[in-house]
Amino acid sequence: MVKSQIETTLDPCIFVIFGATGDLTERKLYPALYNLYKDNHLPPQFAVVAVGRREKTTTDIQDDVVESIRKLSRQNYQQTSEDSQFIQGFHYFQLDFYDSDNYLNLERLLTELDERYQTHGNRVFFLAVAPEHFAPIAEEISNHGMAPNQDSWQRVVIEKPFGRDLVSAMELNTNISRTFAEHNIYRIDHYLGKEMVQNLMVLRFANTLFEPLWNNKYIDHVQVTFAETVGVEGRGPYYEQAGALRDMVQNHMLQLLALIAMEPPVDLDTESIRDEKVKVLRSLQVSGEDVIRGQYGPGVVDDKQVIAYIQEERVPEDSQVETFVALKARVENFRWTGVPFYLRTGKHLPKKYSEIIINFKKLPGVLFFKRGKLDPNLLIIRVQPDEGIYLKFNAKRPGTEQSIIPVSMDFCQNCLEGINSPEAYERLIFDVVRGESTLFTRWDEVEHSWRFVDKIAEGWQDDPKMVVPYPAGSWGPSQADFLIRTDGREWFM
Ligand code: BG6
Repeated sequence: MVKSQIETTLDPCIFVIFGATGDLTERKLYPALYNLYKDNHLPPQFAVVAVGRREKTTTDIQDDVVESIRKLSRQNYQQTSEDSQFIQGFHYFQLDFYDSDNYLNLERLLTELDERYQTHGNRVFFLAVAPEHFAPIAEEISNHGMAPNQDSWQRVVIEKPFGRDLVSAMELNTNISRTFAEHNIYRIDHYLGKEMVQNLMVLRFANTLFEPLWNNKYIDHVQVTFAETVGVEGRGPYYEQAGALRDMVQNHMLQLLALIAMEPPVDLDTESIRDEKVKVLRSLQVSGEDVIRGQYGPGVVDDKQVIAYIQEERVPEDSQVETFVALKARVENFRWTGVPFYLRTGKHLPKKYSEIIINFKKLPGVLFFKRGKLDPNLLIIRVQPDEGIYLKFNAKRPGTEQSIIPVSMDFCQNCLEGINSPEAYERLIFDVVRGESTLFTRWDEVEHSWRFVDKIAEGWQDDPKMVVPYPAGSWGPSQADFLIRTDGREWFM
């Protein structure tokens, strides 16, 4: 793939995607690669090897790439000769992941492409496959000398879930670490690639307005809501293993919580930031009675009738798997003791959005109590679909009366003309290619997240209480409202 105006000094490399005919690759990876190429964020010597189990040809895969770009890319496919050249850089290799002999042919193809594209043996192996294949594929890569780690680099990208609990995550980590050193393992959490999540540190550490108040002296509580309107969408068997706790809380929500609560790092380098995040994860506590789990029943979402979770394809009728979780966590350290962190996520809720809400403490009402309700200040970080920052404060109502009303300042980043925020996968792939791993999770982050989640899951095993049903299209079981109301607070919607 030749591109005339490359600005960056990225190393040449081959990008190998295992699971090339899967949903993730077609929905996210192909469009992301195209956008990176359009933005000059790929090296000039670059090729993609799409590895899949299905019988396909390179021409088929190139057609698939164009189709997925046409449908899903944020930048239009232009069909210029440069664009066609980019597409010609995609090659297909059919492989049964357990056919050890055939890896030899893959190795030959990579060597041949190394020569053709002058990529010097640098490789990204993106494992967009079911988790049970991660370790066997890594082992074959190693056995066939595809990751020599000498005079060249080889990195592996692993999609979630990274294990199902601490024990399985440790086993997986041990297996992968036999082939790849920690600094070459990129564990993806696609929430870390979202623009506003990346903005969190800037907001906190680049504004005098916020950082001095970011503690238990001024903050009453924090809410994080990741609400989805979709159900499990045909992913029943996966979801039966995961549930909302492992699917959303263990990774995306705890990563965000860590970024919200961490201390300022000594430096902006990868390890300094990760060190601070780990400290938060280690300080996390939760009590069993502060975790509510729900499961959607039939209902109406987006004006459409939807079925119950237990009626979904390949989900057992007596499933006790949760599609909703609300919990109150505590970060037991000097900065945060006494400040509850309420987390809530669920499928088939009324609205799709992800938000972080920082609720500041109320001021004593001694001065203004007769002049209206004195609401606490709120800072809302909107992660999606709107990206922005909303600040609510109190002001005088215009007129002769001295009454007070809440007013707001609302910064919407993706409403600004000319701002077309890159998709999370663009930023993440770009970082893998340039060897920057800050937006990926280090092993000890994964480890401590599992410790937290395992404690909850173990409690559930001993707890005969079943998962609480909620109608699809509602905000989850009423127990979730009760959880926060008993503390004299409300979910912000
Ligand atoms: C994935 C989960 O990690 O995140 C899905 O497996 C979930 O169940 C998805 O729907 C949500 O991501 P986003 O970017 O749409 O909020």
